Amino acid sequence: MTADYIKSVITTVADYPKPGIQFRDVTSLMQDSKAFGTCIDMLAEHYRHHQFDKIAGTEARGFIFGAPLAKALGCGFIPIRKFNKLPRPVLRQSYQLEYGEDVLEIHKDAVHSGEKILLLDDLLATGGTMLATIALVRQLGGLVEHAAFVVNLPDLGGADKLTEQGITCHALCEFEGD
Ligand code: PRP
Ligand code: MG
Repeated sequence: MTADYIKSVITTVADYPKPGIQFRDVTSLMQDSKAFGTCIDMLAEHYRHHQFDKIAGTEARGFIFGAPLAKALGCGFIPIRKFNKLPRPVLRQSYQLEYGEDVLEIHKDAVHSGEKILLLDDLLATGGTMLATIALVRQLGGLVEHAAFVVNLPDLGGADKLTEQGITCHALCEFEGD
């Protein structure tokens, strides 16, 4: 099974959530047991020679791919959550959406200074979500050099912004022409 197969089981939904958007829906991949398992295996293979202490996955779909990858790599898992979902003291980072703003939070004790953290989300578009995740982990002293995605949309420029932050991106597949 290859990255082409992974790409083929991601459904494109036209005009969702608004006209003109081609929504890349990874739920069709997740419900295919072979494709989902292969995604985790491919990511685990890619990072086999790295030593990470923890994976930070961003709500919501970063949890779905991040938790099994953490198990495969023998890492802990940090949930980066949206506003007011974490029960203990948090750091908070706002970020831009296409329209308006959202907020991500991390428990203050989730990262110890000097820990190596792999970042993970399902999809990289403008990079706003991942830049906010990076800011949170770095504020706690985490060492962040790598971010993993199932899908990259290169036309939206997120990978370039992450490169400027010293992050090496790895995505299992790309959709161009968005
Ligand atoms: C989607 C996707 C990424 C983010 C990518 O999440 O899961 O997290 O957008 O976009 P960006 O690179 O432009 O920031 P969404 O905000 O739709 O929330 P969800 O994962 O909770 O569904
Ligand atoms: Mg998301």
